[in-house]
Amino acid sequence: MHFIDLQAQRKRIEPEINSAVQRVIESGRFVLGPEVGEVETRLAAWCGAKHAVSCANGTDALALALMAWQLKPGDAVFCPSFTFVATAQVVPWLGATPVFVDILPDTYNMDPASLEAAIAQVKAEGKLKPKVVIAVDLFGQPANYPVIKAICDAHGLKLIADTAQGFGCTLNGRHPSDWADIATTSFFPAKPLGCYGDGGAIVTNDSALAELIESLRVYGKVTPTDAAQRNFHHDPKYLSLRVGMNSRLDTIQAAILLEKLKIFADEIESRERVARRYSAGFEGRIRRVPKVIDGGQSVWAQYVIEHENRDGLQAHLTANGIPSMVYYPVPIHQQDFAARFAPPAGALPVTETASQHVLALPMHPYLDPEAQDRVIDTVLAFNG
Ligand SMILES: Cc1ncc(COP(=O)(O)O)c(C=O)c1O
Repeated sequence: MHFIDLQAQRKRIEPEINSAVQRVIESGRFVLGPEVGEVETRLAAWCGAKHAVSCANGTDALALALMAWQLKPGDAVFCPSFTFVATAQVVPWLGATPVFVDILPDTYNMDPASLEAAIAQVKAEGKLKPKVVIAVDLFGQPANYPVIKAICDAHGLKLIADTAQGFGCTLNGRHPSDWADIATTSFFPAKPLGCYGDGGAIVTNDSALAELIESLRVYGKVTPTDAAQRNFHHDPKYLSLRVGMNSRLDTIQAAILLEKLKIFADEIESRERVARRYSAGFEGRIRRVPKVIDGGQSVWAQYVIEHENRDGLQAHLTANGIPSMVYYPVPIHQQDFAARFAPPAGALPVTETASQHVLALPMHPYLDPEAQDRVIDTVLAFNG
């Protein structure tokens, strides 16, 4: 049994993927070829947003947003600690300070009350300037964007939706980019919408911001707006107007994503079906089954249960040939790199409890009911 079965998906669209890759190889347009622009158009359309700009990975997508807003030392970025390290690690790249916010015990996403408290505390201390909030769509489901956006507006903060795990999720039929200034995503292979290597993108309705990020991903190159406002004495192609980076989605990856996007809606439905079967089997029989926010559609990057004896359960599953993973055993504020940003011990109680009890079970669109029932029966048979 596979934790995530990428081969089943590959077999489903093998001829399409093979010929898409072959086309790019024959075209020779490996960097920013036409498929890159095409996938950006499709990604924006998927979200009902104006722009998508692709980049090399989901971490760079976050960093590009912070670079565009010129974050600097003394700026505070509020984010959860119960997420993949990338969410917070980009903040010190800019010299800014991550301020960790607790999560809700049922959805594992940012707790708006904890966010309010963290903003109030930073303001009261007067050392840092609140600038940005990064909400994460953990395990595939949307954060509480209407409430988080209202808090951001009240305090004049920018909002990033880190949808690396949740690209495609909706809340009341709307995408995270409807609320966030920028939604970022990752196409890491194991993500619900993954490519065959590294990849990422930002989605935004802000045209000026999209243009700026397009410049930043290629060493701060001249944008159409720059060209309209200034006369250049050199070929603008080789000019750099701002400090940026080299962060581009490979054309081959874009071509693969174009094929995967065609089956993405169907795969989300299959993931939902798998999640429902798990929940029907577990409801009332284990400590906690996943709860999705009211009005939310998760893309089920992970199906995560809780157990008092999580490590015992994981050993029992392993002994029975069932793969499982712990996301995340060490919250970010307890990671070495974040020690200087960590709040006092016990300040994020929900995060710390979750990290001790969560266990992710096999989850992918091609998990068949028999295999799933074996997972359910094996979990329920554990009485440690
Ligand atoms: C929540 C979250 N943010 C950011 C990232 C970073 O994405 P990447 O690995 O493409 O840099 C990931 C996944 O890896 C993630 O899960």
